[in-house]
Amino acid sequence: MTIKKQIVLSGVQPTGELHLGNYLGSLKNFAELQDKYQCYFFIATYHSITIDYEPKNKRQQILDLAATFLAAGLDPKKCIIFNQADIPECTELAWIFNTITPISELYRMTQFKDKSAKHAKNINAGLLDYPVLQAADILLYKPDFVPVGHDQLQHLELSNEIVRWFNNKFGAYFQPIKPLLTKTPRLMSLLEPDKKMSKSGGPNHYIALSDEPEVIREKLKRAVTGTGTEDVIPAGAQNLLMLLSEFGTTKQVDYFQAAIQNKTIKYSELKETLSTAIAEKLAPFRAERKKLLSNPKKIESVLKNGAKEAEKIAKKTLKEVKELIGVA
Ligand code: TRP
Repeated sequence: MTIKKQIVLSGVQPTGELHLGNYLGSLKNFAELQDKYQCYFFIATYHSITIDYEPKNKRQQILDLAATFLAAGLDPKKCIIFNQADIPECTELAWIFNTITPISELYRMTQFKDKSAKHAKNINAGLLDYPVLQAADILLYKPDFVPVGHDQLQHLELSNEIVRWFNNKFGAYFQPIKPLLTKTPRLMSLLEPDKKMSKSGGPNHYIALSDEPEVIREKLKRAVTGTGTEDVIPAGAQNLLMLLSEFGTTKQVDYFQAAIQNKTIKYSELKETLSTAIAEKLAPFRAERKKLLSNPKKIESVLKNGAKEAEKIAKKTLKEVKELIGVA
């Protein structure tokens, strides 16, 4: 008897460059999961178009994200990498789920509230429906685990509610899914260390995965730290120490931590050490990404093959669902 590997699935939206927080929070983790589970990692294209975007850039963003997946170590021989938009079954299942999801539940979603405040001129139906599409993404492949950040937990709870509503109405079919929360550091903005690292403040707030060493150095030079005389480690300095613990050595972290505590710290020295550590760790990634992007045909073929694999499962689920609900 062969034991079937458990299934893991997750998606990332193609919205431009990724930053270190995305790397530590998801990509690094994905690369570790692919050895242990049957993994599906996809590009959540249809989610990404619920906010304003430039159509002529979208295809490149998709290829960029696929290249980033590959450069971060995802191996198409071990996991299935695909573009959500290549699997029409996903939007079909989302439609079916729409008919069993009360809109009041969607209005409760904190991400919807945040995004509608931020994009007040474009509160489209897709933005509200976003978590239903996410439930379809997930349940189509019947995964055991879904690795996500804390901000997605509410969406996963909704997916499980959809499982319950569906099963109650049509008979037990879907199994509830489990989030896979990994211990990941919460990186803060370089310029506003009381806020999470994100792209919304502008490029100097974060370090992008594709930043060249000089850019990393410049951004860190500007990073907010402290005066060197505080009794408690200031948030900005804490953030740099956390980065150093991810990208540098324990010895370096101990050295700078002690220096902050006994008030002999030279922040310029910490920043210099950290720049070098990050630039060196990312060098192979940057090189691989560049190489891949110079040959988009190869990326296209990874996505095409991934979609072929994903489609097999997606078709089977959708066929069963359509029969269960009585439409086919
Ligand atoms: N909403 C997720 C995010 O912004 C992306 C996503 C879409 C996703 N579909 C998914 C994540 C399915 C996990 C599973 O991070």
